[in-house]
Amino acid sequence: MNIDFHSPENRYTYASRAAHPDWAAAIRSVLDPVDIQVADVGCGGGIYSAAWLDIGAASVVGVDFSEEMVRAATERNGGPPNISFRQGDATATGLPSESRDIVFERALIHHLTDYTACFEEAHRLLRPGGHYVIQDRTPEDITIAGSPDHIRGYFFECFPKLLDTELGRRPTTPSVEHALRAAGFVPTQTTTVWETRTTYAGIEELSQDLLGRVGRSILHYLTDSELAELVAFIAQRLPAHEPIVERDRWTIWCADKSH
Ligand SMILES: C[S@@+](CC[C@H](N)C(=O)[O-])C[C@H]1O[C@@H](n2cnc3c(N)ncnc32)[C@H](O)[C@@H]1O
Repeated sequence: MNIDFHSPENRYTYASRAAHPDWAAAIRSVLDPVDIQVADVGCGGGIYSAAWLDIGAASVVGVDFSEEMVRAATERNGGPPNISFRQGDATATGLPSESRDIVFERALIHHLTDYTACFEEAHRLLRPGGHYVIQDRTPEDITIAGSPDHIRGYFFECFPKLLDTELGRRPTTPSVEHALRAAGFVPTQTTTVWETRTTYAGIEELSQDLLGRVGRSILHYLTDSELAELVAFIAQRLPAHEPIVERDRWTIWCADKSH
């Protein structure tokens, strides 16, 4: 079963870590984030909303259709006047037209059945000359083999049925670029990046994170006993008493709204 983003049980699943400097470097390699106004759509617990401020954005508004996520994001990041969160759908955010320099969507679009309305909404929100930045994983990113450098690959080695689920929902570059053009955007660059997700003190800490299905919607497709099997499978393949660095490969699509 897919994750229920609206359940109080999952409120903190996308609020429990900080964005790694890998992510900041990837963003700086595609645009200058200083003094811009950002909409972070599908913001979850606001990990990346806060990260945009850290790299110099003037203001960020996070939007999520889940009241629980908005609550977690506000708890985690509330305080500074230049960051705020609101409930809204990616297809109808309720934000004013032409009010943002950047619309950012990380790990959102694989949860959508159709990109069109979401991309059209991003186009509406952007000022002329604004940039749309989408971060997600393609089938190529997903199918990288499991190894101590790519722990997520073990999920699919242990449970091939999860790969079928992923391949059914993850975006391909041609489909994203086609939908961007249809929504009026000019795709400018598509790039891949390895982003460190978390460094764990050891296998016990990683196992607890996996057993909690923290921030990994794909693990909601496993039963509790299957999840325990997966955790044991991974534990056999990683060092017992050393820090573990979990990194994932992502694709970033950039597109411009013309002047
Ligand atoms: C995988 S989480 C990613 C959260 C955050 N962007 C991150 O990378 O940590 C996907 C988020 O998108 C939200 N979401 C899913 N479909 C949505 C929609 N149609 N409109 C707005 N938010 C949506 C979910 O509630 C969830 O918080």
